[in-house]
Amino acid sequence: MHADRDESAGTGGAAGSTLLSKARQDAVTPYTEGDPILQVRDLAKHYPLTQGILFKRQIGAVRAVDGVDFDLYAGETLGIVGESGCGKSTVAKMLVHLERPTAGAIRYKGEDIAKLSGRALKAVRRNIQMVFQDPYTSLNPRMTVGDIIGEPYEIHPEVAPKGSRRQKVQDLLDVVGLNPEYINRYPHQFSGGQRQRIGIARGLALNPEIIVADEPVSALDVSVQAQVVNLLDRLQAEFSLSFVFIAHDLSIVRHISDRVGVMYLGRIVEIGSDAEIYDHPTHPYTQALLSAVPVPDPTARDHRERIILHGDVPSPANIPSGCRFRTRCWKARERCELEVPLLAVPAEFRLVDTPARHDSACHFAEEKRVVPPEGELEVPGPAERGSTEREPGEQPGGTVREPGDKPGSAGPGPGQQGSAGGEA
Ligand SMILES: Nc1ncnc2c1ncn2[C@@H]1O[C@H](COP(=O)(O)OP(=O)(O)OP(=O)(O)O)[C@@H](O)[C@H]1O
Ligand code: SF4
Ligand SMILES: [Mg+2]
Repeated sequence: MHADRDESAGTGGAAGSTLLSKARQDAVTPYTEGDPILQVRDLAKHYPLTQGILFKRQIGAVRAVDGVDFDLYAGETLGIVGESGCGKSTVAKMLVHLERPTAGAIRYKGEDIAKLSGRALKAVRRNIQMVFQDPYTSLNPRMTVGDIIGEPYEIHPEVAPKGSRRQKVQDLLDVVGLNPEYINRYPHQFSGGQRQRIGIARGLALNPEIIVADEPVSALDVSVQAQVVNLLDRLQAEFSLSFVFIAHDLSIVRHISDRVGVMYLGRIVEIGSDAEIYDHPTHPYTQALLSAVPVPDPTARDHRERIILHGDVPSPANIPSGCRFRTRCWKARERCELEVPLLAVPAEFRLVDTPARHDSACHFAEEKRVVPPEGELEVPGPAERGSTEREPGEQPGGTVREPGDKPGSAGPGPGQQGSAGGEA
């Protein structure tokens, strides 16, 4: 666990950072100073596997999350990546208290939210909000946009007294780039990207400090993904938000994240600043994931090493002993079967001034660059990258036009079904 380690050896050690070379300072995020706003320690969620109809007995457990550790600092974006089924959404649900942990701690400003109840829990939940993956199913089709965004005020009337709610919702629509006049429309009258903006407005309604975004752009058309990512970027700066950003797409995660955690089979196996993870990965799983990132430059593509992982991801109901990655790791040796590798700075990098000096759960961690420098990665187009401006296509009234939207319209007219964009 992080708390038990020598902090000056880790990426967060303030004492260590003063001794770092320029190259390493560039690689280390500026955010890991001061106390984290959120500390996650040994977090676990095990779902019981039962047998029998009348007399159910537990025969095992699905270890969906199995000892996750990370810190989130004020104002930063922590990206979490990993293959399908590795436990990303389960972590997200525990952070916003939609699932109760089986074990471990989630400390918000030092207080373990898993142990809170009643008023104290309600106050903390207000500060940690979620944006969901699927804008098509996460919005109630029978509620107007105004009711959807304003619903959290029913539980927290202190944030917006009844008389002020309509104005507050219209302000939120404007903030996320939608026309405030659409307050009485229904979700089906918006395209996918616009629906995700509604989901984001709802997430912002209670003025949270932390937004947990679970694959917020995965269900969207590629061109719309960039717009929504840029919106999140802008909102973070405007509202001093901290983000936990979960995604499959490593290019998008690099674009938006200050630090990145890589998950495999219920655990974080490597975590560090985006430069440390993308340019100096030390865990074989991270290296394999990165070797599959699309590279547009044909020369760079021809020269990079592609690491193909063999075998399937083991079932979370039957996790391998020792290192959980060993059944797919080309470097596995006897020690990997016997000893669980801790998420810590590997011994060989502890005293060396290198960007490889970050937490990695591997007995035989080695630095290996597998992707070309950031500029050569396939990421959103130049107009979209790094922009904190409103996106092209955005209307003066704040409405964003997306591919397939008719000029001046936010989707099909009243009574029409389906999404407005060319998205699925
Ligand atoms: N309620 C549940 N009961 C039993 N198993 C569950 C439950 N919810 C999730 N799981 C299992 O836990 C594991 C992790 O699921 P989770 O949804 O967190 O993964 P994920 O990383 O978000 O995947 P994806 O990228 O596909 O969204 C999966 O094997 C899943 O089948
Ligand atoms: S501990 Fe062993 S099996 Fe696990 S990632 Fe490292 S080398 Fe591979
Ligand atoms: Mg998920």
